[in-house]
Amino acid sequence: MSHKGMGGHQSANADSVVWLTPKPILHALGPFDLDPCAAPDPKPWSTAAHHYTLPMDGLLLPWFGRIWLNPSYRPTIIGRWMEKLANHGKGTALVFARTETEFFHRHVWNRADACLFLHGRLHFCHPDGRIAKANAGAPSVLVAYGAKDAERLYDSDIDGKFVPLTRPVMIHVAINIDPPTSSWREIVADCIATLGGAATLTELYSSLETHPRTRANPNWRAKVRQTIARARMPKIGRAKYALAA
Ligand SMILES: C[S@@+](CC[C@H](N)C(=O)[O-])C[C@H]1O[C@@H](n2cnc3c(N)ncnc32)[C@H](O)[C@@H]1O
Repeated sequence: MSHKGMGGHQSANADSVVWLTPKPILHALGPFDLDPCAAPDPKPWSTAAHHYTLPMDGLLLPWFGRIWLNPSYRPTIIGRWMEKLANHGKGTALVFARTETEFFHRHVWNRADACLFLHGRLHFCHPDGRIAKANAGAPSVLVAYGAKDAERLYDSDIDGKFVPLTRPVMIHVAINIDPPTSSWREIVADCIATLGGAATLTELYSSLETHPRTRANPNWRAKVRQTIARARMPKIGRAKYALAA
């Protein structure tokens, strides 16, 4: 499947091809206030609290709040969607990682706050919610505009490589990854050690619930899982992990 190469056109700004964003991505990054190029009804799930759908023209209508953007990838139009999101300054886009292209240079490399390059290729969903058998045919990237969206992307457990692009995010990430006294890795390792050298996720969650770092991060459970994966802590039972050797 090629996500974006197919389909007809309704107007200069329209491309009626519908490939839905998989629900787990929206779940990991949402909630969003507006999807300016949402799938027509009936749709199997919402992408945001408000949707603009064809024949409305989401490129011309006003945008508000936090935006979810998985637009038409048509080369002649994608730059306009991304430019509008960059100007709006608050939201996250899902596009192909065509890192050398004009739209990517102008509106991602030069304007976005962070990217998360997805590991592997996405399987988008059909309009009825079924996952497509074939992958999208190209690598995908999530692009965050605004410090809060960048933070949300960083804190998500979406599999991929996070790349900060602006200084405030870099500082934030540096503090998050590597605080002098207690990194997430140290916090999780200490907790497992206290629990006798091995612990289930449930035990970890209940021990860490009152930790100051978890109170400061609404996605702390995902952070714990991510830390376990990144530290390659051995899995020794059903959702049970030991300290890395
Ligand atoms: C790749 S699909 C993504 C659907 C949805 N945003 C999501 O993330 O699941 C792109 C959608 O953009 C809609 N679309 C294309 N041009 C549009 C325009 N000018 N205004 C509003 N919607 C548009 C199409 O109808 C299609 O449903």
